[in-house]
Amino acid sequence: MVQGTANWNTKQNQEWLQEYVEDWISFYRKHTKEGKVASYIPLLAEANPDHLGISIFGANGMTLRAGEVDIPFTIQSISKVISFIVACMERGVGYMLDRVDVEPTGEAFNSIMHLEMRKVEKPFNPFVNAGAISVTSMLPGRTSDEKLEPMFQLLDRILGYRPQINVDVYESERDSSMRNRAIGYYLLETGFLESDLNITLETYFKQCSIEITVDDLAQIGLILANDGEDPKNQQEIIPRQVARIAKALMLTCGMYDASGKFATYVGVPAKSGVSGGIIAVAPPRVRDEELPFVDGCGIGVFGPALDDKGNSIAGIRLLRHIASQWDLSIF
Ligand code: DON
Repeated sequence: MVQGTANWNTKQNQEWLQEYVEDWISFYRKHTKEGKVASYIPLLAEANPDHLGISIFGANGMTLRAGEVDIPFTIQSISKVISFIVACMERGVGYMLDRVDVEPTGEAFNSIMHLEMRKVEKPFNPFVNAGAISVTSMLPGRTSDEKLEPMFQLLDRILGYRPQINVDVYESERDSSMRNRAIGYYLLETGFLESDLNITLETYFKQCSIEITVDDLAQIGLILANDGEDPKNQQEIIPRQVARIAKALMLTCGMYDASGKFATYVGVPAKSGVSGGIIAVAPPRVRDEELPFVDGCGIGVFGPALDDKGNSIAGIRLLRHIASQWDLSIF
């Protein structure tokens, strides 16, 4: 455990923490060798499996960054957090929760089997593909551009710039997405799709192909850690109720069939994507001792070598280490 002092937000402590984070990146980088980059979307297979980067943005204004922090990557499944938040803001929380459940599946993110085997009344949660595609179909708008617009507007408000779609990744996913098409047809047959199937899938593939960096994930995480408010100016960006539901879902379903282990060993809401990104949210915590980031922080990680569940292998280990060193667990 890093020993506390009365005030972590000093230049000396920032330098000290920065050195720790750099050491941890060097140490955990060797774990990237145990994973593999995603290959089911051909363009993702071109990522460098040795990369590992982290950004931590504290509510107290402290920023720590180490490793490959400037490499853009596509947001992939982390977009499911944004699309769900936007759908709740546009359609209302009650409307969304009537149509998509909030239960973990214990299955792979792209499983179809559980929908049929368990004869579900609605998709299990917004973070498995079935639920996410259904949520995307509920975004208002007739075209994919119209459906994406409120997502871009929210990202622009949080990040201070409008991210772009990586068209090559979008086309690569669109042309290799047999399983998501199968899920889409199943949702259509069972009445869980509220827009045209092709428009919905086009929107889903585009939202997954939005290009971001670890800094962007840390900034989104910071807003969620602060229950939807920007700690810099106390402005509400995401309604508190929506931010809290999003965090509950991240904790229970965000790391797919590894969510239980992540909650146990790391203990903070998080969401992963197959390009190797992880967003983690450490809310403010009350402890007797002084600890770094006691007012909360957002964390963005990038490590494209994945484990067999589709989560960044070194990223998870790095987060586990940091959470234990700084006592970030919400439990
Ligand atoms: O649906 C897909 O296949 C992807 N575009 C997103 C999947 C993803 O990121 C799963 N995360 N671990």
